[in-house]
Parts: sequence; C-alpha cells; structure tokens
Amino acid sequence: MKVFLDTADMKMIKKYVQLGIIDGVTTNPTHLSKEKEKPEKIIKELVKIVPGDISVEITEKSADKVYLQAQKISKIAKNIVVKIPCHADYYEIIKKLVKEKIQINITLVFSLAQALFMCKLGVKYISPFIGRLDDIGADGTQLLYEIRDMIDNYGYSTQIIAASIRSIDRFNEAIMAIADVATIPSDVFEKSLQHPLTDSGMEKFLSDWKKTGIKQFP
Ligand code: G3P
Repeated sequence: MKVFLDTADMKMIKKYVQLGIIDGVTTNPTHLSKEKEKPEKIIKELVKIVPGDISVEITEKSADKVYLQAQKISKIAKNIVVKIPCHADYYEIIKKLVKEKIQINITLVFSLAQALFMCKLGVKYISPFIGRLDDIGADGTQLLYEIRDMIDNYGYSTQIIAASIRSIDRFNEAIMAIADVATIPSDVFEKSLQHPLTDSGMEKFLSDWKKTGIKQFP
C-alpha cells in the first residue's frame, strides 16, 4: 500500500520523504493557499524531492480552460498527476487527456457510479473523500469497500486514493479496505507514527532497567 502526504508543507514533505515512508504527495488549492511560497515554486521543488506521484489540481472552471491547464500542468514533470474534479462537465476532456496519456487523479468522488465512470474513462487514480462523506452522515469507508469490489470485479486498472482522511481510525479503515493509496494530512500522519502505549511501555522498561543498577550494557 502506498501512503501519500496530503499537504503542500515542504518542511513536512522533505522530512518524511527522506525517511522513505512517503510514496507521493497530493496537493490542492486549499493546501497551496496556506503556504508562504508561490504555488509554482513549491511544485517545482516538490518534483525534485518526491520520487513518487505528485497531484496538482486544476484551478480553472470551464472545460476548455481546464483541458489546456491540465496539459500545461502535466508538462511540469514526469511524476505530475493532474487533479480534476469529478464533474460531469469534464468527462469529455478527461477522455481526451487520458488518450494523450496524461496522468489524472479524479478528485471529489462521492459515489460508486462516479467511480465507475472514471474507471471506464481510464484515469490513473480516483479519490473518494471519506471525511466529507462523514460530514453529511454518510459512510465514506463503506464507499471505499464498494469501489474496491467494483474495480476488482470488473478488472479496471484505476487506483483508489482514500482522501479526506481526518483521523487514525479512518486511516486504519482505508488500510483494511485495501485502498491502493491513503493520502494523509500532516497532523494525522504524525499522530499515526505514535501510540501512548508505546510511550508508557518504554518508560516502564527503562525505569525497570534502572533498578538493576547497571551503568553500561552490553
Ligand atoms: O485529499 C483531500 C483533502 O485534502 C480534503 O480534505 O479534510 O478538506 O475534506 P478535507
């Protein structure tokens, strides 16, 4: 399973990419708007330090403009994946971009039918938004299982990125649902590296060891 960082925070990305536990990055206009650096500068730096796929979202609205912008974004580097919202207006251009071998991550996926149509168009990734389904009282994790079954049953090659993951529980569920990728925001990612029982267990072992009075071991 791949784990992506869902952020444009360069410090965070550098730190964990170096460790080798992050396989890629997903950005969006919200993430980029929070950073001091200009978006283009961030993306040009990202493609140098991240070996895996980096999703960069379109910011235009009309299908014609989205099409041209997607072509431009894809030319930034080989590992760029263009993020396009799962909107009916874009089906036509998504089909064209796939034919041009442009790597696409379809974002804002909320239903099994949307996922199916994007698989039929042959995109590389689809990103169901788990947290935003939770927000409206729907079951995002259930959707992940359904999309997994649909892709496996019908033999599509599109990969699932579990997105909008706001808790460790949802991260765990994405792992269990066999999402190909989970993209995790920095705070949830850092929390997932820790466990209070690991901390208390370490303290107990170390304090018990002190009782032996041994100063050097081995
Ligand atoms: O990957 C999608 C993510 O950035 C959106 O997350 O928490 O704004 O729904 P959220």
